[in-house]
Amino acid sequence: MSKLAISGGERLRQSPFTEWPLATDDEKAALGDVLTSSKWGGQPFPGKHAVAFAKKFAEVHTAKFGQCVNTGTVAIQAALKAIGIQPGDEVIVPAYTWEGTVGPVLLLNAVPVFVDIDPDTYCLDAKLIEKAITPKTKAILPVHLGMRFADMDQILDIAAKHKLKVIEDCAHAHGGMWKGKGAGSMGDLGAFSFQSSKLITCGEGGAVITNNLEYLEKVQSYINAGRASVTDQFHHRIIGFNYRLGEFQAAVLGPQLDRLPAQAKVREENMAHFEGRLEGAPGIGLLKPDPRITRLAPYGFVLKYFSKQAKDIARAAFVAALQLEGVPCDGLFYEPVYKSSLFPVDPADFPALSWGREQPLDLRKMYSCPESERAAYQEAVWFPHQLFLGGKKDVDAIADAIEKVLANIEELRGLDHKAIRDQRLSRADRES
Ligand SMILES: Cc1ncc(COP(=O)(O)O)c(C=O)c1O
Repeated sequence: MSKLAISGGERLRQSPFTEWPLATDDEKAALGDVLTSSKWGGQPFPGKHAVAFAKKFAEVHTAKFGQCVNTGTVAIQAALKAIGIQPGDEVIVPAYTWEGTVGPVLLLNAVPVFVDIDPDTYCLDAKLIEKAITPKTKAILPVHLGMRFADMDQILDIAAKHKLKVIEDCAHAHGGMWKGKGAGSMGDLGAFSFQSSKLITCGEGGAVITNNLEYLEKVQSYINAGRASVTDQFHHRIIGFNYRLGEFQAAVLGPQLDRLPAQAKVREENMAHFEGRLEGAPGIGLLKPDPRITRLAPYGFVLKYFSKQAKDIARAAFVAALQLEGVPCDGLFYEPVYKSSLFPVDPADFPALSWGREQPLDLRKMYSCPESERAAYQEAVWFPHQLFLGGKKDVDAIADAIEKVLANIEELRGLDHKAIRDQRLSRADRES
């Protein structure tokens, strides 16, 4: 008789996990305030809720200045603009990340240079950066991915040595601390996303933080249709766009920022319990802990699945079996961006790829980053952060489901199921 739910057995987890996003009376009150204020947009600039949130958000991350924008992708684009990225400049990016880390580089007609990830953290491997530096390199764009930090000590040293700027992509790192310094406050600028899956969300939104007033002013002009910044000490006049955050969105961010420390504590405790439960599980590995991460900001819990130690059953079947047991998770969550179907680079759209060359750079074919490919296509399993916002019982259910699937893994051999077929597809190519 089948034991696994995917092959007809009883589902292990019957009830849903904590929902995300969470809405409380505080969000309702803030939304009501905007509704009756007659100031719904981000104009006059910046809106009351947006400015209050940005100030506190910067403080929480030990930065001087903060500015809300309308998405995380725009936050990266505005940060690149602030540091003066010009057409043809090269920007070093990790290969394993969301496409939105890389798109803004191309949009400014600059050239992304992919560097592989460190298998211990799944973040940009600082040891490989110097090999990728050329006279055209202007910036490094590390991503604090999943539940770890890119090695900011090494990255800042390399940046200082080669006179490069650093933009931290902190889309996964709200509230995170590296040696007591907030995510996004160590590089020249930090870029955050408030898209609906993130640790703080307003559906769609983003923010930039920095310690440099000139950068803040450039960001403000760029996202406010080129208007003078609020302080205008540097008198930059640039072509800008309307990338402002509306007040309804800004209003729901404040209460979440207040709740973040308590939630971070619950997640951290639950994740520690989960790691304890997984110790010694065959076929399961963990990312390496790093004592320099002084406050964990886990966008998701990321583990490693080693199919060789699990009777050669591929990750797609393992993940699909977990999903059918009632545990939301994903394997092919990210791909090396250069292989992603969301990265159809046409050199005609990005002229810098052809400058000084007979043939344009073919970003889709010129890279092979083995660690990124291993994480993307074989190893990584991502569990959304809200699974760790409930009690220990929730965490035990996830661990029990993993144990159950591993104990009955033979049932997955040769099995055909839509959930398994879906897991072989990129997220963008799945039906739901
Ligand atoms: C690592 C990373 N960078 C950038 C982004 C872009 O953020 P947004 O979706 O808000 O544009 C995201 C989020 O989706 C992300 O996960």
